[in-house]
Formats: sequence, C-alpha cells, structure tokens
Amino acid sequence: MAVKAKSIELLNKAVAKEIETVLQYLYFQFHFEDRGFAHLAKLFQNIAIKEMTHIDMLSDRILFLKGDIIMKPMSDIMYLDKKEGKIELDIKRVLEIAADMERKTVDLYNDFASQCAAEGDSTTKRLFEQLVEIEEEHQDTFDIEGENYQKFGDTYLALQNIQRVAGNDESGHENIGMESKS
Ligand SMILES: [Fe+2]
Ligand SMILES: [Fe+2]
Repeated sequence: MAVKAKSIELLNKAVAKEIETVLQYLYFQFHFEDRGFAHLAKLFQNIAIKEMTHIDMLSDRILFLKGDIIMKPMSDIMYLDKKEGKIELDIKRVLEIAADMERKTVDLYNDFASQCAAEGDSTTKRLFEQLVEIEEEHQDTFDIEGENYQKFGDTYLALQNIQRVAGNDESGHENIGMESKS
C-alpha cells in the first residue's frame, strides 16, 4: 500500500488536538474536584477518557498507513486566572471554553474529512466523520450544562452533586458518545 502522507499528517494533527483536549479537561476536572463540584469533575473526566479513545483510533490508522504517531499537544492548555493569589474558577467561562474547543474540533475534522476525500482516502475520511459526530455531542453537552448553570446557578450544581451522591444521577453523561462508536 502506498504511504498516504497527507492522511498521516492530518491524523497526527488530530492526535495533537485530542492530546491538548485531554490535558485541558483533566486540568478542569482537578479544579472542580478540589472545589467539591463532583458533577462537573465527573463530566470532564468522562469526556477526557472519551478523547483518549480518539487518540487510540487515530493512532491505529496512522500505524496502519505505516506512519508514526507524534505525541504532543497542538497548543498549550489554558490556565485559570489568579486573583489576589487565589485561582479563580469561573464555571460559566470554563463551560464556554470547553464548548468552544469542541466546536473548533468539529470544524477541523470536517475540513480533514474533505481533504481525505480529495486524496481518495475514504477510510480516513469516514474516521474523521465518525469523530465529528461524537465531538458535536460533547459540544452539545457543554452548551446544555452552561445554559443550566446560567439559569439555575449554584443550586443546579448542588442538586447534581446530591443526586450523584445518592446514586440517582440520570444525566447519562457517563455514556457520552460511548454507546457504539468507541
Ligand atoms: Fe475527540
Ligand atoms: Fe470532544
């Protein structure tokens, strides 16, 4: 099989994007945990794990095409601001950052799918399309969480935490994009 250099390049860009996303979401997870926001900590953890499975899928394809995987983030992660020596955890802002990251990933993968189609690599094109679908779900989840937080504020998060402790969390967030696509 001929080496599909363009596909390998695009797949590695996607690996870099996923690594950046994993690091960013773990960073947010740790801060939510630290402040006792169990619901949001779990949400970010679950989506970070899902993004790790994307690195796996992309890497499989790179190796199949006889390339090698480049393991580095696309950009540095965004750190929370410090005010008077204290790290500020602006929940609304964090959810907006996450939704925006997903939106940008959707745009990126749609573009990569088109480029793969132009290169005649339909398998890699399908992989990107499959990922677009999952990233759109993540974006939707962060948008909904942001809207709920906007509407109900800290009461909403307190209720989510109580539900989680009681084992009655029916948000389904644990299963985001996990069903049949992994
Ligand atoms: Fe992803
Ligand atoms: Fe995602």
